[in-house]
Amino acid sequence: MAIKDSFGRSVENLRISVTQRCNFRCIYCHREGQLFDSNVELSAEEIKRIVSIAASLGVYSVKLTGGEPLLRKDIVEIVRGISSIPGIKDISMTTNGFFLKEYAKQLKDAGLSRVNVSLDTLNAEKFKFITGVDAHKRIMDGIVEAARVGLNPIKINMVLLKGINCDEVEDMIKFTEENQLILQLIELEGFGDDPLYIKYHADLDDIEKKVRERSLRVIVRQMHHRKKYILKGGAEVEIVKPMHNTEFCLYCNRIRLTSDGKLKPCLFRNDNLIDLLGPMRSGADDNYLKDLFIEAVRRRRPFFM
Ligand code: 5AD
Ligand code: SF4
Repeated sequence: MAIKDSFGRSVENLRISVTQRCNFRCIYCHREGQLFDSNVELSAEEIKRIVSIAASLGVYSVKLTGGEPLLRKDIVEIVRGISSIPGIKDISMTTNGFFLKEYAKQLKDAGLSRVNVSLDTLNAEKFKFITGVDAHKRIMDGIVEAARVGLNPIKINMVLLKGINCDEVEDMIKFTEENQLILQLIELEGFGDDPLYIKYHADLDDIEKKVRERSLRVIVRQMHHRKKYILKGGAEVEIVKPMHNTEFCLYCNRIRLTSDGKLKPCLFRNDNLIDLLGPMRSGADDNYLKDLFIEAVRRRRPFFM
């Protein structure tokens, strides 16, 4: 049984940033809410230990993210370590796809189940504008290889940016349908007074309405109560709308771990973190770490209420 917070939300998923480093410079990057630079990184062993503690409290699903997780030289070892932990049933990764072609097979063999690839556009020029890197073709090759080695499902993360890619939703639906990928349409996350947020934030309601009208059925996922639409023709489109969405927060089953070893109860807050790395490196035992984990869960509260 997963541990519950004081709002009755069980904590089932641990989202781990394995590094802050990234080879892209996406204009909108939220850095997983980790605002401060740190060059300290958890080791593969330390990550495994923290996941074991989480698993002992009922966490069964792990998402590896960054920065760009495939910049970690020991990423395969990290995945292998996590997959050896009893109770962990699902390991996934969100990657920019740049090194996916090289790593897909090893990751699959190490126990990675599935992958999310960030791909906001099918247009190579726009891709370069958004990410700062001319690598559209590489990402496509990475997706093909991930499918070939059996990572499944493959999800495409498309962050909708006003004036940039909202006109591409139709093409992206077609692309994901043809290649048997799941499309996640993601609302830009940010704070209201951030100029970038003001410039690029797009409302997903109209887009969702159009998707809904074409759908055969809708599945409401447990996590965040995200809606997944199954369209005529077979496309699967998931809508991720976190901003000012009380339902999203009410059904959040995730806790985060920063690359420098702090438990982070909420993407949007940095005033309630709990450091695990310090205690771990000064010899804390598992029971002590477990108590810290429970305290982090206790500090969880919906951000949008
Ligand atoms: N809003 C929404 N999604 C974001 N991502 C990065 N920054 C933001 C943001 N500000 C997405 C990336 C990637 C995932 C880790 O988070 O596109 O797919
Ligand atoms: Fe941020 Fe991901 Fe883009 Fe890297 S690839 S800059 S981590 S959004």
